[in-house]
Parts: sequence; structure tokens; C-alpha cells
Amino acid sequence: METIVPVSTNEEDTATAPAPVSATELRDAMGHFLTGVTIVTTRGIDQPYGLTVNSFNSVSLDPPLVLWSLDLGHDRADLFRKAGGFTVNVMGADSACDELIRLFSKSDADRFSGANWLSGVSGQPVLADAIASLECRLWAEYPGGDHVIFIGEVLNISTRDGRPAAYFKGQLSAFSS
Ligand SMILES: Cc1cc2nc3c(=O)[nH]c(=O)nc-3n(C[C@H](O)[C@H](O)[C@H](O)COP(=O)(O)O)c2cc1C
Repeated sequence: METIVPVSTNEEDTATAPAPVSATELRDAMGHFLTGVTIVTTRGIDQPYGLTVNSFNSVSLDPPLVLWSLDLGHDRADLFRKAGGFTVNVMGADSACDELIRLFSKSDADRFSGANWLSGVSGQPVLADAIASLECRLWAEYPGGDHVIFIGEVLNISTRDGRPAAYFKGQLSAFSS
């Protein structure tokens, strides 16, 4: 596990620092940053779990690492830790994916009974409708304020053709190439 080096704050800098940025301001600003949409799934403890996620990104090619962050308010971090991994399912712009993106962001929804899925080679759930699925072993986790940052080592990849879903200013749309 790598060491986390906190960035030290210089008193002179903090004396002239602007007022703290609010959660609403940050959310609005981040809304201008177009992302894809994924559903991160895990086999969990006794049943599969998954949620819609747009904090996904690549980290390293060698070793092959990706990251995403989980809101600690969901109280789901232990599911991922105990399962030892997850699958990042990159969602397409078609209606089946659109329905899954909404289903996997809705609280109390019976998410997996509405999804076409199978157990991947790593034992983590893979969504059949995804345009790419990256099965990962949990490689590290880092604190990230009110989120935890999970880093996965990619063990297996499957892809299929399709246009990706896009998320911009709180709206789902399709990225057209
Ligand atoms: C487009 C989109 C992106 C999201 N990205 C994230 C994310 O990166 N991390 C996260 O913790 N929640 C994210 N969420 C919220 C979760 O999907 C949602 O809160 C979660 O499904 C709640 O699950 P629970 O009812 O099991 O707690 C996102 C939601 C949407 C619609």
C-alpha cells in the first residue's frame, strides 16, 4: 500500500483564501464536465449489489488500474471490501442501458431482478447490456472526504459495439461520434 502524503497548508495562503466552496457550487461546476455513465457491481456478501457511478476513470496501464469513488453516506463500502472486487460496466445510449442507469440509482429498487447479468470470470457480476465491462480485484482504497476512492486492478475485459451514454448538467444523453 502506498503512503498518502497530505499537502501542507501555509498560513499565509489560508489568510488570503477565498470563502469555502459549497457542495452546491461544486456539484454545479462538475455538471459542466461531461462524463460517461457506469454501473459498478459487486457480488457483495450474500447478494449482488450495484449502483450508477460517473466518478469512474483510468489510473494506470501497467499495472492496469481504474478508480471510482463511493459516497460513504450509502454505507455500502464493506460490501466492496468483503467481496474483494467489483465490475465497472460502461453503459450505452440505448433504451435498455438507460433503464438500468435509472434503476441502479433509485433507492429501494430491486435492481438485479430487472437486469440481465451473469457471473464473470472473477466472480463479480457482469451486466450483459453494458458496452464494456471491466472486472476488477480491489487493489487499494484511499480516503476522499465524504467518499472512499476504490482502485481496482483490471483482471478481465469484455466489450460490445454501441454508443456510450453521456451525463452532463444532471441529464442523461447520448454521445454521438
Ligand atoms: C449519473 C449518476 C452518477 C452517479 N455517480 C455516483 C458516484 O460516482 N458515486 C456514488 O457513490 N454515487 C453516485 N451516484 C448516486 C448513486 O447511484 C445512488 O445514490 C445509489 O444508487 C444509491 O444506492 P443505495 O440506495 O443502495 O444507497 C450517481 C447517480 C447518478 C444518476
